[in-house]
Formats: sequence, structure tokens, C-alpha cells
Amino acid sequence: MAERIAEEKVNEIRQAVEIVDVIGDYVQLKKQGRNYFGLCPFHGENSPSFSVSPDKQIYHCFGCGAGGNVFSFLMDIDGLSFQEAAVKLADRANIELKLEGASAGRNPQMPEGSRQMIEAHELLRKFYHHLLVNTKEGQDALEYLLGRGFTTESIDRFQIGYALPSWDFAVKLLEKRGFPLELIEKAGLVIQREKDGTYFDRFRDRIMFPILDHQGNTIAFSGRTLGGEEPKYLNSPETPIFNKSKVLYNFHLARGTIRKKQQAVLFEGFADVISATRAGVENGVATMGTSLTEEHISLLKRNVQAVTICYDSDKAGIEAAFRASVMLSKAGFAVRVAMMPDGMDPDEYIKVHGEEKFRNEIVGSSATLMAFKILYYRRGKNLQNEGDRLQYIEEVLKEISFLDKAVEKDLYLRQLANEFSLSLEALIHQLNQFEQAAGPKNQNQPRPESRPAPYVRKTELKPAYHTAERRLIYHMMRDADIAYKVQGLLEGNTLNIDEHQAIITYLFAYYEKGHDPDPGAFLNDLQDNKLKRVVADIEMMPLNEEISDQELSDYIKQVLNYQKMLKIKEKMAEQKQAERQNDFLRAAAIATEIIHLRKTL
Ligand code: CTP
Ligand code: MN
Repeated sequence: MAERIAEEKVNEIRQAVEIVDVIGDYVQLKKQGRNYFGLCPFHGENSPSFSVSPDKQIYHCFGCGAGGNVFSFLMDIDGLSFQEAAVKLADRANIELKLEGASAGRNPQMPEGSRQMIEAHELLRKFYHHLLVNTKEGQDALEYLLGRGFTTESIDRFQIGYALPSWDFAVKLLEKRGFPLELIEKAGLVIQREKDGTYFDRFRDRIMFPILDHQGNTIAFSGRTLGGEEPKYLNSPETPIFNKSKVLYNFHLARGTIRKKQQAVLFEGFADVISATRAGVENGVATMGTSLTEEHISLLKRNVQAVTICYDSDKAGIEAAFRASVMLSKAGFAVRVAMMPDGMDPDEYIKVHGEEKFRNEIVGSSATLMAFKILYYRRGKNLQNEGDRLQYIEEVLKEISFLDKAVEKDLYLRQLANEFSLSLEALIHQLNQFEQAAGPKNQNQPRPESRPAPYVRKTELKPAYHTAERRLIYHMMRDADIAYKVQGLLEGNTLNIDEHQAIITYLFAYYEKGHDPDPGAFLNDLQDNKLKRVVADIEMMPLNEEISDQELSDYIKQVLNYQKMLKIKEKMAEQKQAERQNDFLRAAAIATEIIHLRKTL
């Protein structure tokens, strides 16, 4: 568990940073009146509906409903925890913030050793890149890369470099710059000889691919041979700053596009990521020569809900794609699978068929998960053979039983029936057996979790009480006396909209804890993202700071009237019922009640 940061510290940080500057690093903002506007980084859009208020230190998107303060912005856009966001902001504001429990790799205030390890990597990255791009020693390597279809832009973008065929280039360079050799040995850059305790370079005569963590720090390398030596790719070992099962290659650069497109493309190798980027697929990431882990998945989960798997189309790649697809769909992602012909990998495909075809016909025309599974189960089977055929039908039926939508089920059942000349009834019968055996519906296939509603918000006309409640909350957040006054005026009734009621419940708790009114601090205090968004939305209403008693009671009236209207409707139904039962006495009594209620409106 990450430790809690003292509240005063949080407030200090909040007051020291300017939200416009922080968001300005991610979004191009333009001032318009009191607020700034830009294209929302949380959903794709062409006209700006994302606004930032320097007065209130909050942001809000009128398109997708995203909203919050500077902390929630960083948490959402960078996939950080609250603590990590706080550390990042404290760093920016030069506020000292020590966190003991914080994990190294992702934390700007990491242990000194990790800092230095990263610095050593950064230094080497620059040197390797320089050697590749600008020197005679790097010429062969550069030609190799260009010959493979790498461009100078991609070499720059991915900071590709070259390590000289030297035993002590890194040793000498880093020693001269004051890095302790034991430390860079722990960082995996050099290796200690057993016989005399001296050190030599791990990476020699290799094309160097720096591996960046999700904040953009260089934390490891992968070096490819130019010739045929083994291993083809030599990776940094696991170190205090490099954990393969957590890192996704290119995540740092791809994150923006991933969020905009609401889709990530998952590759097996980083050569594929680089080629795909060149082909205009900029939302690609890859694991580091390992299979997909739960940690990778949870990183993706914080950023996106749709993943397209684009692994090599050889046997190993298809098996790996199947395993990855199962894990991802279990985690609730919408999964598609892009496949290439003839056992190719994406890099080769692009070389042979071109960038456009890759973009449109491979990634753009990826298969649905079900279509992929159908192909997967067909592999290696001879469907002329009865045993194979029955096994195939059973496997596909099982998959169909996991589908959510009746229409989809119907589609694939018919496909199966047609292909093997089976009766639909027989298939449905068998399907029902699977479904019963599986118990309560689809336990093993959880539905995609709901993330912030996918980005088309209807501009519906809101009822009067909706606005009234929001206006009340606006003022209640600014003045505790008003908050308590509203509470009194509501006479035990709740607000009509559950989220609004939840917000004021939290607000009272906030005041009870002895806090002074401060909408920004209150927003920070709220844990629930959905409520945060509503508060940000309310904060963005252009209202006066002052409210008269008249306005206050008008708003209350609108809130209560809605409840009375509901009550009247209820009574009217009762009245009708009584009349139908010829209970005219009761009907008359109810009628009096209704008149009474109407009067109070
Ligand atoms: N890999 C590795 N060690 C190896 C071979 C592969 O770590 N000895 C990892 C690398 O991350 C590589 C990925 O597995 O990117 C996929 O391997 P492979 O398909 O063999 O490499 P390609 O991406 O096709 O690389 P290239 O085109 O340069 O041969
Ligand atoms: Mn390849």
C-alpha cells in the first residue's frame, strides 16, 4: 500500500502548481475569456470542448464529461496513482515530498541509486545514438538499419544507437563521469570478471534500442547483432529499475495516441512497433521478449479498453496471440486480432506489401475475437476427418456459448450449421447443454468493465430541478452556512439526483471534519471519479459567487416540487384504483390530499 500524504502537503502542492501549465504540457490551450480551451486529450475530437479554468484550477470536457483537478488530470492521463501524481507535481513545484513506500522505477523521487542508474542509461543512450548517426564507426550499423527500412526519423524518434565493438567503452565513459562501477554493474550495463574483479561492457558491437519507462526514463537496452551472432537480441537483465513484466516498449510515446484512438495495438517485437509507427500506426506497444503479464494488462487497463493483437503469423505467434486474447478479454478489453499471411511478422509485411496495406488491410481489418478463434481452432485439423470435425464443432460451440449477444450467437450458429450441414436445432440443443454446464451466465467471461462512457454525450434537455440542484451545490461548496441552511430547507428530503445527493453527503462530512469551504480542496478529497467529474462540471457553471435568499428558496422549491409531483402522480393512481374498486370514500379522501399537495407547489 502506498502511504498517505499529509493533507497540508497536498494542499501546498495544489496551490503551488498552475493547472494551465501542467495541462499545457499535454494539450495545446488557447485563452478565451476567463478560461482556456483545447482539444480533449481523453477522447478524439476536432473542435475543442475541453476547458481549463485557472480561477478554479479545474478542467472539464463538455464532450466526454472528463473533469477534475490537477491531480486527477495526471492520474488519468499518465495512469498514475494519487501518490505518484503528487510526487510529480511536488517535483515540478520544488516542494520536498518524501515517500518511503514508493516504488522506484516510476517515481521521480526514487532512491538515489536508481536515479544514478537512470542517469547512466541516459548518458549512454545519447552516446550510442551519436555514434550511430554521426560517426564512421557507426556507418555499417546505420546502413544495416536503413537497408531494413528504418528511416532517419524513426532512428531519431526511437533514439536508436550503436555500441562500439569495445570491451570497455561504457566502463571508461561512466567511470570518468563518476558513476560507481558496482552501481552500473547492478544496472546491467557492465559485467564483472570473476578472475580479477575488473569490469567489461555488456553491449558490444550491437545496434542499441533504448527501453524507456512510462515516464520516458531510459531504464534498459536491447542490443541487436548486425551479423548472425547469438543471441539475436541481447537485453539488459532485470535490475532495480528494469522489470520486464511491467514495461511495454514504446508506451511512453504511444500513450497519447492510445488514449485518443481509444485503442492500443500489441506487437511481439519492437522492430514491429517501429515499422508500424512508420506506417502510421502510432498506438503500438510491445512486450520485451516475454509473454503478456497481468501487470502489462493493468497498465493498459488504466488507459484504454480496446486492444488489437498483432503478433507474428507463425505457429508460435498465433499460439501467443490466443493466450493474450484470453487474458485480455478476461480483463474486460474489447479484443481484435490482426493477422498477416504466410507466417509473416508485421515488420516483414510492411516491407513486402507497404505501409498503406498494413494500415488498412491488417490493422484496419483485424478480425473480431470470435472470428480469430474460429480460425485458431481450425488450424492443424483435417475437417474431412470425423473426429477432428466433431472436436472443432464442440470447441466453436463452447466459444459461442460465451458470447453476450443473441444476434452474434445466431450468426455463428448458422455459420456452423451451414458449413457442416447440421440442423440448427441440434446445435442449439448442444449449446444449451454447454450453457447449463457453465452455470450462471458466462462466469468465465466477464463483460467489458465500464469506463467513462464512450464519448458521445447527448445534449439532452435537463429538467429544472437538475440545474437547481447543481446551483445549490455550487453555493454549498463555497459557504458552509449556506450548506447547512439548504439542509434545513430540504426538511429531510434528499436531492433528486443520486450523484448530487452523494456529493452533498460528502460535503457535509468534509465540513464536519473541520475543513473550511474550498471547492478545490473538496474536489481533491473526493475519491469517486464519477463524482469528481460532476463536481468539475458544476464548478464550470458561470455563476455569481453571491446568492440571495430568494434564489436559494427558488432552487429548493424546484427540488421539492419534483418530489411532490411524483407524490401527486402516485396519489392519482391510487385514486383511480379506489374508484375502480367503487371505494368512493377513499377516492374522495385521496382527492383532498392531492388538492392539498398541489397547493404547496
Ligand atoms: N527477443 C529477445 N531475444 C531474442 C530474440 C527475440 O528478447 N534472442 C525478443 C525481442 O524483444 C524481439 C521479440 O522477441 O523484438 C520478437 O522476436 P523476433 O520475432 O525473433 O524478432 P523480430 O522482432 O522479428 O526482430 P528482427 O526483425 O530484428 O529479426
Ligand atoms: Mn522481424
